[in-house]
Amino acid sequence: MPDVAFVNGVFMPPADAMVSIDDRGFQFGDGIYEVLRTYRGQPFELEAHLARLDRSAAALDLIQPYSRAEWTKHLLEGIRRAAYPEAKIYIQLTRGVAPRDHAYAADLVPTVVMTVRELHSLSRSMQTDGVEAITIEDIRWGRCDIKSLNLLGNVFARQQAKRAQVFEAILVKAGSITEGAVSNVMVVRGGTIMTAPEGPTILSGVTRAVVLELARKAGLPVQECGITQTDLYGVDEVFLTGTTVEVLAVVRVDGKVIKDGRPGPITQRLAAGFTGLAG
Ligand code: PDD
Repeated sequence: MPDVAFVNGVFMPPADAMVSIDDRGFQFGDGIYEVLRTYRGQPFELEAHLARLDRSAAALDLIQPYSRAEWTKHLLEGIRRAAYPEAKIYIQLTRGVAPRDHAYAADLVPTVVMTVRELHSLSRSMQTDGVEAITIEDIRWGRCDIKSLNLLGNVFARQQAKRAQVFEAILVKAGSITEGAVSNVMVVRGGTIMTAPEGPTILSGVTRAVVLELARKAGLPVQECGITQTDLYGVDEVFLTGTTVEVLAVVRVDGKVIKDGRPGPITQRLAAGFTGLAG
């Protein structure tokens, strides 16, 4: 079962996939991306990911080369060729190739890259026992709702987490939690699920939306509101949501144990509900 690449309409092995050094994605990070996954060979929340790709493209005045139907066709073909039961699909769309100049011409031809690779799930122990996180200052730009290729703030945060030997970095802007370096962050306090509201400071996570809907359907109270860094240490539960993390309990933040240090009941209920939907 091979990893598959797709560049500007052509499928090929990843080793043969090339883009120009004059591509604005390389020169300026002038582009966007999406990450989605399959469960048993089927893409999960495909429409929501393609809708977000459209929103990101529109926000950056990028030309969308394919309709949703065309994207779907290419994605399904990539999934079929790779034939992994659990695959991770990475789509990248840049403004295209041009002589280096910050400003751009309106008629550039966008570059499209897609890869389909095997997805390795998180370890069983991480899923059952939860993970640790640290908080770090959110130094990213003012449009984190756009899934842009400019990920230096996230790279920096994730590296700090790696150095601290914890799983995730929880980002804090002006004293409030925004999201994780590669995930959205939710907490439970007094039975209410709380998470940062949608807007320019967070990525509108596809998993976030699925989990909030699960919670609302289960009659669990949800509040999309600010959570301060100091509140975080005293909440009953903390968990992450995301395509790669699914629903993942955080049991220790900055070395402080959350509640009894075990994944909490609401996190477990939502994780089970999510697995029922997806996995
Ligand atoms: N990351 N917030 C950030 C900053 C993210 O990078 C991600 C996902 C999420 C969760 O979004 P979703 O539920 O749609 O996956 C939130 C992907 C997986 C990545 O960059 O690899």
